[in-house]
Amino acid sequence: MTLRTATDGDWAAMAVLGAVGFGEDWDAESMAAWRTLSAPDRSLVVCDGDTVVGMSGYLDMELTVPGGAVLPAAGISYVVVAPTHRRCGVLRMMYDELHRRIADSGYPIAALTASEGGIYARFGYGPATIDQQLTIDRRFAQLHPDAPDPGGVRLVKAADSGAEFAAIYQRWRRRVPGGLARPQALWDDLLADRENTREGGTEWFAMLHADGYVLYRAHGEHPKTVRVGEFRAVTPAAHAALWRALLGLDLMGNLVIETSPDDPMPYLLTDTRLATTTGRTDALWLRMMNIPAVLKARRYSSESAELAVVMAVHDGFRGDGGRFALTISEGVADCVPTQAEAEVELGLDVLSSLYLGAHRASALAAAGRLRCRDDALVRRLDAAFVTDVGAQIGYHF
Ligand SMILES: CC(C)(COP(=O)(O)OP(=O)(O)OC[C@H]1O[C@@H](n2cnc3c(N)ncnc32)[C@H](O)[C@@H]1OP(=O)(O)O)[C@@H](O)C(=O)NCCC(=O)NCCS
Repeated sequence: MTLRTATDGDWAAMAVLGAVGFGEDWDAESMAAWRTLSAPDRSLVVCDGDTVVGMSGYLDMELTVPGGAVLPAAGISYVVVAPTHRRCGVLRMMYDELHRRIADSGYPIAALTASEGGIYARFGYGPATIDQQLTIDRRFAQLHPDAPDPGGVRLVKAADSGAEFAAIYQRWRRRVPGGLARPQALWDDLLADRENTREGGTEWFAMLHADGYVLYRAHGEHPKTVRVGEFRAVTPAAHAALWRALLGLDLMGNLVIETSPDDPMPYLLTDTRLATTTGRTDALWLRMMNIPAVLKARRYSSESAELAVVMAVHDGFRGDGGRFALTISEGVADCVPTQAEAEVELGLDVLSSLYLGAHRASALAAAGRLRCRDDALVRRLDAAFVTDVGAQIGYHF
């Protein structure tokens, strides 16, 4: 089998492989939109003779980290191996080359979303944001008397409101760890609202506030279920106002949303139990390519005590691990390679999971994934990595 950069002539075969791998055809215009985030040398194919049996690539992305800094990120996507060539090392072959290219291009961090949870830790990726699915039984939900009622929500036509959504999203993604810049081509793709993306639901319905918006579809028969596609609020007032409007959809039954575990939505209700957690899964996976650069880029909790720790980070895939001295003072980190004895030992996947604050060092230590003899030090790591704003993926890719 041979591996090479994909050419324009490969895309027809890649479209077939993609349709087989994911069990659905991808619209040609949509594929063209996503390809604007890539470049000719960023897509690979593996061929058996003349037949394309594997493909993968990476997108040029911008990732917000705690404190609001934005890192260039290589977003791996469109990974498929033909069912005729599974478990022969084709994915590994492509990942070796992709990560060589990502490192050579100077990306400090790589990202992906995973079709299955058991594949990517071996390549140094850890789940770094959590999608919590809430299902709200709207018919019984009562707003709490203390819930704000700021108003200001308008019903709008999604296709006509792209500029307003994009301006709010831009503010949102700059403050939320895991936020991703969304280029115009992807806005056009989202608002094209193609039939094959609706999963049996209606076209987009949209509500707009000066500091937030929601896109949703209605599914099924009476009472219909509202499935929220995107809810972005930059202020608590926008969050409360949009939820009031959604809860006012009198003929609808359940409201379903994927959100961050920190979403204050349940507290808007007199009976928080009516916002039931009906799912919890990983969303954004990260892999640090340059550990010191990435650890220095984020802010840490300034309320935590000063921290100095030597970590041994294992990278079983490439040689990006090693021993590092991390010092944090007033929320700012320094990080340098060191020969000093390690106090904490962990895999690169685990360090990547800690990065956006969605997972705690103490929980990973309890599971044996982070090893440290000093419990007080683990608690100091918890305190330092915690974030003011809950991490959430900008969009799936
Ligand atoms: C997932 C997929 C890309 C794996 O490709 P593959 O060529 O069979 O994988 P490889 O043979 O190179 O395996 C690489 C490693 O991953 C492991 N692995 C592969 N698929 C796995 C799975 N589904 N679950 C757990 N481990 C898996 C292999 O055991 C191997 O481990 P090792 O090298 O440490 O021994 C392929 O099954 C596929 O195309 N699936 C459908 C589409 C998809 O899920 N794409 C991924 C989108 S994120």
